[in-house]
Amino acid sequence: MTLAKWLVFQSLGDERGSLVALEHGKSVPFDIRRIYYIYHTEKGVSRGFHAHKELQQVAICISGRCTIVLDDGYNKEEVLMDSPTKGLLIDSLLWREMHDFSDDCILLVLASAHYQESDYIRNYEDFINEVKRG
Ligand code: TYD
Repeated sequence: MTLAKWLVFQSLGDERGSLVALEHGKSVPFDIRRIYYIYHTEKGVSRGFHAHKELQQVAICISGRCTIVLDDGYNKEEVLMDSPTKGLLIDSLLWREMHDFSDDCILLVLASAHYQESDYIRNYEDFINEVKRG
């Protein structure tokens, strides 16, 4: 079973360049309640290192590249994020780490809920215990 679930967005390109439109209720499998983006990441920095109890997210690398490691407590998978037309669906209870950010990387994230620190699992052992509890 693969942990990486991809959404493929249509690129509305013409001779001027490219455009991707994401619409509420059509483009991602949840209601989008928050958008944030990670950019100007310093060299050698990795981010993430957490899971969420409920939150669902879609990550889209709209510029540059980075890698994301997904871990469901049993298997790990590393994916390359380098396409503005591909969204990585990151479900709840998936440990995620982001590495290898290029200088020009902009990682756009669509999220199913407002920011809530109580939804985070920031300790790996707590994450494994939560997975085992089912
Ligand atoms: P954090 O979740 O630690 O970043 P990452 O896991 O992507 O490395 O967030 C960094 C800081 O920003 C932290 O203080 C919480 C804050 N934050 C918000 O206020 N709102 C948000 O939507 C997000 C994602 C983070």
